[in-house]
Amino acid sequence: MASVRFICGTQSLHKRLEERISAFYETEDTILYSSCFDANGGLFESLLGAEDAIVTDALNHASIIDGIRLCKAKRFIYEHANMSSLEDALKKAREGMDIWDSPGLDKEPVPARNIIIATDGVFSMDGEIANLKRIVELANTYDALVMVDDSHATGFLGKKGRGSIEYGGVLGQVDIITSTLGKAMGGASGGFTTGRKEVIELLRQKSRPYLFSNTLTPAIAAASIAAFDLLEKSDDLRERLMANTERFRGEMTRLGFDIIPGIHPIVPIMFRKFENDAVLAQEFAKALYEEGIYAVGFFFPVVPKGAARIRIQISAAHTAEQIERALTAFAKVGRNLKVIS
Ligand SMILES: Cc1ncc(COP(=O)(O)O)c(C=O)c1O
Repeated sequence: MASVRFICGTQSLHKRLEERISAFYETEDTILYSSCFDANGGLFESLLGAEDAIVTDALNHASIIDGIRLCKAKRFIYEHANMSSLEDALKKAREGMDIWDSPGLDKEPVPARNIIIATDGVFSMDGEIANLKRIVELANTYDALVMVDDSHATGFLGKKGRGSIEYGGVLGQVDIITSTLGKAMGGASGGFTTGRKEVIELLRQKSRPYLFSNTLTPAIAAASIAAFDLLEKSDDLRERLMANTERFRGEMTRLGFDIIPGIHPIVPIMFRKFENDAVLAQEFAKALYEEGIYAVGFFFPVVPKGAARIRIQISAAHTAEQIERALTAFAKVGRNLKVIS
């Protein structure tokens, strides 16, 4: 690109992609980043100061955590997906927080000026969808903004692929959406933040990864526009993905595997009944590889102790034969390793 966006790094393709994303989400404006990690990294400190509060799910993605670390706002971490814990945190932020850095200063806590609730739309380790309906309700009650990172939902969850926001019936009620173009939307790279025009304008003025780093290459911008074209032209890919997912989830359950229930194409196959779950997950992944199936074993510290798993990601590009082959391999390895009978 030869330079960042505001010098000479903006091409019409970037503007077109931003408009396209705004139209897709029915938001006012969009700003592109070279990744969603950057979108999250450059979000919070551009909008909030020490007088503000961020209320954040304990299992949010690393990029949200790092973005929050860069910001002086007070942090309230709520228990993962626990709506009463979220409400407690909102109450605390509203009641008053100590914003005075100097320990000698004996000043009263003050209520947060602005509050943002930050959550993943889908939590990537479990394929679990956030309860956005309740989060939006609580945000309205406590006069907070809502920020959703929808990297694991953009393009396929919801009737038209508008992610967990559409799935949860809260389109138009989420203030800030960040997401990646590096997963369902083509899979190369790129990220964005979309929302109210005032927020996006502030980001254009202040967001450091936008101001001080080249944006995505024009080739990726064009490919991403083509991905949105595909998405809007037909529901075929989404329907095939959901059918593949249903088949795989249903058959794996029938075979006796311990999978976290849900509808998401991320399918976590757990080893909770086994003491040596971390070793087993790796042995299982190795044996699958020998059967021609590439699936990665996750274990502590990527997931909590006792929650090792093989994480499968189903794709619309998988054929019925490929899904069948994967199921056959799982059944064979599962029986060999005595994970199923
Ligand atoms: C929830 C979430 N947010 C952000 C990212 C980062 O996206 P990108 O690869 O575009 O930086 C990821 C990638 O794993 C993710 O899962």
